[in-house]
Amino acid sequence: MNAVLSQQQFNFLRKGFDPEPQRSSSINKICYTEPHFLEVEKEQIFQKSWQFVCHEEKLRKVGDFVTVDIQGQSIFAVRTDNEIKAFYNVCKHRAHELLQGEGTTPRIVCPYHAWVYKLDGSLFKARRSEYLENFDVSKICLTSVRLEIFCHFVFVNLDPDAPSLKEQTGNLEQEIRNFAPDIANLTFAHQLTYRIQANWKAVVDNFLECYHCPVAHRDFCSLIDMQTYKVRTHEIYSSHMAKAKSENNNAYSIENASVTDHAVWYLWPNITLMRYPGRGNFMAWRFYPVSETETYEVFDFYLETSQPNDDEAEAIRFIDEVLQPEDIALVESVQRGMRTPAFNQGRYLVDPENSGFSEHAVHHFHSLLLKAYEQAKTP
Ligand code: FES
Ligand SMILES: [Fe+2]
Repeated sequence: MNAVLSQQQFNFLRKGFDPEPQRSSSINKICYTEPHFLEVEKEQIFQKSWQFVCHEEKLRKVGDFVTVDIQGQSIFAVRTDNEIKAFYNVCKHRAHELLQGEGTTPRIVCPYHAWVYKLDGSLFKARRSEYLENFDVSKICLTSVRLEIFCHFVFVNLDPDAPSLKEQTGNLEQEIRNFAPDIANLTFAHQLTYRIQANWKAVVDNFLECYHCPVAHRDFCSLIDMQTYKVRTHEIYSSHMAKAKSENNNAYSIENASVTDHAVWYLWPNITLMRYPGRGNFMAWRFYPVSETETYEVFDFYLETSQPNDDEAEAIRFIDEVLQPEDIALVESVQRGMRTPAFNQGRYLVDPENSGFSEHAVHHFHSLLLKAYEQAKTP
């Protein structure tokens, strides 16, 4: 059953929204508070966009697999002899899920009636099928899903017709590699997770502007030179760049830092890729809706070694104990505010310099949201 929006709902949502951010009001808060919009987003956003699975280091050996849930659709990626493939994690006999979590397996054996599939998804054996008519094991195969490797990260897309991630992101991969030339050699070192009582879009909105930084993140502003902060929007991503301050700061020590850039890329719809000042590092930060009022946030750190060094442990502590609580308090307050009848929409505070204080990347995100919602409009 498709989740649809009437023309009236769509018009209400975008009333006051203008393609020019300096003239525009934000989209209406109903899409942050009404559960129906999450149903629309599942179909029009999460099932049509490139979704993060893992770093390719998890899929180096034949048989390595990782399962992922994309808003209720279970998918797994697996290393076959020479490539990584992805499939719906669903058995062709009676729809039992095939794999759990992550690991390594020579064959995919369904836990229900033990049908056996090869790693390439083809059915190898169906127990007691020899008495069946019109049943050809060689004709049965798991349903495959599009998969792409981007900057050593594995992404999947449930939409067979979606443009490739590379096509949609132009030279983003090259830009990331320029900032993180060591990215192929980094390894998973730490993960932070959070449950936030706010709509996932409120979490993304907050991430996309640093207008709030001097007010809410004093220590962060002592780490980053806000005068150098630039935000640029592109088709399905935005880049958020600044230099680290050289003098002492209140966030964490960057005395021995080989990386002096704060380089962040938001990639539609729910992931940010980042490189922070410090030793060689890269981070993948995802925002998953749990309900219209709850977001599950997962924050992976990839470092030069699988154990963070002292400075990195300090940086992780800063993110976990200072920066994140500051942001989580902000977005949870926003969600409570949106529940009241006293707020419907606000303005984007933008400047022509594309500075870090400007909110044009929030406007960009909302344009992408409207484009997706439009697909759900009844004719
Ligand atoms: S559901 Fe998989 S073997 Fe029966
Ligand atoms: Fe923030």
